[in-house]
Amino acid sequence: MTVAHPPTQSPKPRAATKTYRIAVIPGDGTGPEVIREGQKVLEAMARRGTFRLEWRPYDVGGARYLSTGETLPDAVLKELREVNAIYLGAIGHPDVKPGILEQGILLKLRFELDQYINLRPVKLYPGAWTPLRDKGPEHIDFVVVRENTEGLYAGVGGFLRRGTLEEVALQTSVNTRHGVERCIRYAFDYAHRRGKRKKLTFCGKTNVLTFAHDLWQRVFTEVGKEFPDVQTDYTHVDACCMWMIKNPEWFDVIVTDNMFGDIITDLGAMIQGGMGIAAGGNINPQGVSMFEPIGGSAPKYTGKQAINPLAAICAGGMMLDQLGEHEAAATLERAVISVTQQLKSLAAGQMGYSTSQVGDLVVAAIPRNV
Ligand code: IPM
Ligand code: MN
Repeated sequence: MTVAHPPTQSPKPRAATKTYRIAVIPGDGTGPEVIREGQKVLEAMARRGTFRLEWRPYDVGGARYLSTGETLPDAVLKELREVNAIYLGAIGHPDVKPGILEQGILLKLRFELDQYINLRPVKLYPGAWTPLRDKGPEHIDFVVVRENTEGLYAGVGGFLRRGTLEEVALQTSVNTRHGVERCIRYAFDYAHRRGKRKKLTFCGKTNVLTFAHDLWQRVFTEVGKEFPDVQTDYTHVDACCMWMIKNPEWFDVIVTDNMFGDIITDLGAMIQGGMGIAAGGNINPQGVSMFEPIGGSAPKYTGKQAINPLAAICAGGMMLDQLGEHEAAATLERAVISVTQQLKSLAAGQMGYSTSQVGDLVVAAIPRNV
């Protein structure tokens, strides 16, 4: 007969669970609907017990601008500097002149928080439809590292004789050695850490941008010497668009400047199944990073529960990864993959489920135990 002995030692105190302070900016249009699902899913991840989330909501966006004239008040920015990450829905309002909210909120956040990398995975999940005939998940799996604080986005330029027939408009691309180098080094390191094909392609236009991309090319070659295990390649941006359609399997990691990165990642979003799945991270590796679905606020769908929240949910997964919760990020990605296989389509209004039902499907697909 065995006798149950009382434990001689008191149980080990559990290591204090990490708590992450997350600022949430649901923003405009359908932003709040998709962010609600993202928070639901991230809370379900937290219930598995390895970390806690403390949400801090902020109402910056078009509605606040229209009622108070404020875009991103200094007091808000100050608080955002203190959180562990920012979770953003969408910024953009049909009643606000283009540029005001983009520059006053989104770009200001990227610049002020020095989020110098815009990381945009282009990955076709099983079950997701791609317009590329003959291409499947085994062909479409690469990551674009877009420089996020310089280039044509720096806001350097001006008008001469505005409104006259002699008008001159200048918009200068700013490329600093420091900015270019830290972006390229991040991209090499990322290709190395990702550990897939270990190939980094510089996407530029060296035949025309003979100053800006000459600098990029030289820095690319120099920094590459620090990463002997990463194979390097180059493509002009126009050809890059062509190869992304014809041979997406050639790419592993692409590094590019702000403007080209903006353009090729919309193309990337389409080949991975559309804006319903495309997520991105605005990353400051030493500071506060911000994660967002890359589609806009889609005002015409507001309140219709038609938008696919998987992009916001994937952005949440990228946030977990950046916070160091790699296991949780991988688990969440597996849950998303199981859901892409259940949806009729990833497109708005064609999923066969509402926005919140898709969130529920992801929650249901998360294993309860670590
Ligand atoms: C994006 C968007 C922004 C950009 C706009 C809204 C300013 O298109 O995140 O890609 O151009 O960076
Ligand atoms: Mn864009």
